[in-house]
Amino acid sequence: MLGRVVSHVHTGLGDMENSMSEETDIFEVIFNCRAMRRIKPDPVPEELLIKLIDAGNHAPTGSNVQNVRWVIVRNPEQKRLLAEENRRHITAYMAADRVEELPHHSKEKRDRMREAVVWQMEHMHDIPALVIACLEFSEPQTEPARAGGGGYVWPAVQNVLLAARALGLGATPTTLGLRDRDRVKEILHLPETVEAYCLVPIGYPMGNFGPVTRLPVETTLHWDHW
Ligand SMILES: Cc1cc2nc3c(=O)[nH]c(=O)nc-3n(C[C@H](O)[C@H](O)[C@H](O)COP(=O)(O)O)c2cc1C
Repeated sequence: MLGRVVSHVHTGLGDMENSMSEETDIFEVIFNCRAMRRIKPDPVPEELLIKLIDAGNHAPTGSNVQNVRWVIVRNPEQKRLLAEENRRHITAYMAADRVEELPHHSKEKRDRMREAVVWQMEHMHDIPALVIACLEFSEPQTEPARAGGGGYVWPAVQNVLLAARALGLGATPTTLGLRDRDRVKEILHLPETVEAYCLVPIGYPMGNFGPVTRLPVETTLHWDHW
């Protein structure tokens, strides 16, 4: 059993080619969990969304403070407001982005990624669930702390991404649409002590899952010292 994920929840919505088998190797999930931006508008059963959040809550936090909080936006008007915010920042980002290619990411692949980002920008309001990962602090945060203090949220976000993949749900971690922290607070009615760090649009994917391509271990690993 070591290294295996057991999925107890079935979607009941078909699409089984995309969902993992009942008992799925954890490494298969990790190596096939790429950003899925084109999402169908079909609703996601609430119990699956709750399962994703439960998976997120099982991630570690420093000193076990467990201060990750979640808002799942399904209401059309709320989604419209977030989609508008996202559009504003994606448009600015795209206009300023001068990176045509990277040594490990060809121009062709980058262009495909940008097309998918634009697709998601255009359809954000139709995606069934916008999951926002937040942190709750004991007091309101200073401006640099608000922006830089989100570390505790990321293991939880990664758990949500992996759980989504295991359940056949498409997801992508996004941050650009949350750049205007005050506006996001207003939209989500967040208390002064809560900050939003990651927006994960989730639903059934239009395309098929595939393997992620990453740098080989020889490029990134050093033993004992650099
Ligand atoms: C911290 C972080 C912020 C990200 N922000 C965005 C974003 O604002 N919009 C977006 O479309 N994707 C965003 N992504 C997704 C990345 O672009 C994506 O994970 C990366 O290109 C790898 O894609 P792949 O898994 O399909 O290979 C973000 C990812 C991370 C980890």
